Amino acid sequence: MRRWTILLAGAALWLFLAALPTLADGGPHVAANNSGANSLTADSCAGCHRAHTAQAAYLLTSSDETAMCLTCHGSATTGATTDVMTGVQYRMNTALSPRGGTQLGALRAGGFATARMGQPFKISLASGGSNTAKSTVQVAATASAVTSSHMASLSGLTRAGKAWGNGANGSGAGPVIALECTTCHNPHGNGQYAILQSLPTATGLSNAWTIKIVSVSAAGLYTTDVSSGLHVGDAVTVAGATQGNGSGTVATTPATNTFTLTGVTVAAAGTGGTVTRTSGVMVTDAALPASTDARNYTVIQTVNTSTTPPTNTSLYASQIVSAGYGPLTGDYFRRAVPWNALIGSVNDAPNGIAASVAGTSTVSFNEQMNLWCASCHTRYFAYRNPTTNPANGTVTNSYKAARPGDSLFMYQHATRDTSPGCNTCHVAHGSSAVMNGFASANVPFPDTSVSVGDSRLLKVGNRGTCQMCHDPTNTFTQSAGTQYPPAPYPIPSAP
Ligand code: HEC
Ligand code: HEC
Ligand code: HEC
Ligand code: HEC
Ligand code: HEC
Ligand code: HEC
Repeated sequence: MRRWTILLAGAALWLFLAALPTLADGGPHVAANNSGANSLTADSCAGCHRAHTAQAAYLLTSSDETAMCLTCHGSATTGATTDVMTGVQYRMNTALSPRGGTQLGALRAGGFATARMGQPFKISLASGGSNTAKSTVQVAATASAVTSSHMASLSGLTRAGKAWGNGANGSGAGPVIALECTTCHNPHGNGQYAILQSLPTATGLSNAWTIKIVSVSAAGLYTTDVSSGLHVGDAVTVAGATQGNGSGTVATTPATNTFTLTGVTVAAAGTGGTVTRTSGVMVTDAALPASTDARNYTVIQTVNTSTTPPTNTSLYASQIVSAGYGPLTGDYFRRAVPWNALIGSVNDAPNGIAASVAGTSTVSFNEQMNLWCASCHTRYFAYRNPTTNPANGTVTNSYKAARPGDSLFMYQHATRDTSPGCNTCHVAHGSSAVMNGFASANVPFPDTSVSVGDSRLLKVGNRGTCQMCHDPTNTFTQSAGTQYPPAPYPIPSAP
């Protein structure tokens, strides 16, 4: 009898596991391999762990976690096609020795030692406005040392190590935290884009995503003082309100500062309190390629000829090779994919979903990344702030209305949805953009410290970033299709 129970439980478990989607993480990081759901002869453990001769805690092969990652992702190894130090992806060789000898292209995240931020390039469309110029940041022919990095010591730079903007409003510039590769990435895999940790944690870092509530209606509509960044499915806790406290799941987000919940009963209209997101940030991933292929991690994103969706991006390395694109093609800015100012844009979608998606059912890639970056840089997420004090629920652009209760991160460029995302302006690892102008070279960090020439992970030198989208003079009135600066420039329809 007992044996039957165990067998039945086993059969139910098997059905459950078989129904799980294949988690789409690369290399040895495939969650379904590491968890034992796919097979019980996992190869991956040996890439990172030793049972008897380990060199670091948690039985790791190298002296520390980051050094261990670099045994495959470093510059002089063959364990992975991506070399995060020099900022390059190589073509796939074989499963036993993934890195081939030919470069595929420049990495999206830039690099920790060198990167290839090239000359920006701009093409005019019709008249003025912030959305009318489509621009690109080309891949430079030669690599240059990085001028800013997310892991300063790995790049030979000295920086404060502060998670800028982390924490509640009014809590200052941000805490010092130690960053390892694994602070941002989950080594065992989790089905997220770039195996990003859905809830990055580090000593000193605040994980709380807490927003003030202005009111809750009897129908259960909560209104927050600023854009909340909450999305359908987020787990939240409401506390301190006169009505509608409890833990629930976001059901709808009719406006950027309103939401409704399932799991919490609202008995009558109420005011006050806070809402705190208790779940991590989802960054949707795309399906894995065949074992003989690798993902395309480069800035080369162009139309492919695949008939299976998504057909507007090149998700796999083989698609770049077969299209014949050389390693110096591509666009770090990746505002429009394929880069073609003359025909408009298909937005950046390195995970196979569009950068901007209307409606509430699918959250755009940019928005997901904004929220992910903001899980550390909390107060850099900005869209709409209150127009009144005390806040009554009316909001306007964050460049016009101040963040309440914070004298440092007050007015901010919008970083949301159809406005540029964090990774439109910034790379995630390191940038070689050159800050040599008087103003740009000396911009203080939020704690007033200055590192002369620091490029803030921006993709364009000085503040060319701003010119990628704006002409504040309204004098750039060339006819549609005029290309700046003059030749040589990329062909508009090239990636
Ligand atoms: C890409 C490298 C990598 C691979 C592959 C890998 N690990 Fe790990 N593992 C780590 C790192 C790094 C840590 C340190 C703690 C952390 O960051 O999660 C760790 C921690 C652990 C821990 C202790 C902490 C915890 O999360 O329970 C266990 C157990 C573990 N690994 C087992 C395995 C097994 C079993 C496999 C193969 C199925 C495996 N690992 C594959 C890198 C890896
Ligand atoms: C044993 C070799 C090996 C080690 C060690 C290793 N990786 Fe990987 N990793 C790979 C391979 C192979 C891929 C597939 C893509 C490629 O070829 O670069 C990959 C892919 C990735 C990706 C992209 C995942 C995706 O969703 O497509 C990230 C991010 C990554 N690794 C981070 C890390 C980090 C962080 C560590 C250290 C904890 C680490 N890797 C250690 C081999 C390794
Ligand atoms: C795990 C927390 C964490 C996450 C997630 C995170 N950052 Fe950071 N960020 C930090 C820390 C810590 C520093 C300071 C690094 C230093 O000083 O060495 C930093 C520094 C920066 C800097 C300044 C770099 C310089 O010194 O010029 C920029 C820009 C930045 N982050 C942007 C981003 C973007 C964009 C994202 C999302 C892709 C992101 N961050 C995600 C923790 C994080
Ligand atoms: C502050 C967070 C952060 C840290 C620290 C970090 N990464 Fe990443 N990494 C990212 C993000 C975000 C992406 C996705 C970049 C994109 O899509 O623009 C990424 C992308 C990658 C990729 C895919 C290639 C690419 O350029 O898109 C690899 C491989 C990778 N990281 C490995 C590493 C390794 C190895 C380390 C440590 C040496 C590391 N990362 C440290 C945030 C981080
Ligand atoms: C429109 C371009 C743009 C967007 C979008 C953007 N940033 Fe920035 N970021 C900058 C510039 C420019 C700087 C340099 C300092 C300045 O001018 O405020 C900077 C600096 C930073 C710094 C370094 C500390 C500081 O303030 O100097 C961090 C951290 C940072 N950004 C994080 C983010 C995060 C997180 C997002 C997304 C939520 C984001 N940025 C979106 C342009 C942008
Ligand atoms: C990727 C394109 C992009 C980049 C890069 C960019 N902006 Fe913007 N900017 C926008 C968009 C879109 C809006 C409208 C945002 C909104 O409605 O909240 C905007 C709004 C503004 C505004 C508000 C007034 C207006 O013109 O609408 C100012 C000021 C501004 N940006 C300055 C800057 C500066 C300074 C930089 C460089 C640090 C910059 N922008 C970089 C796209 C961009």
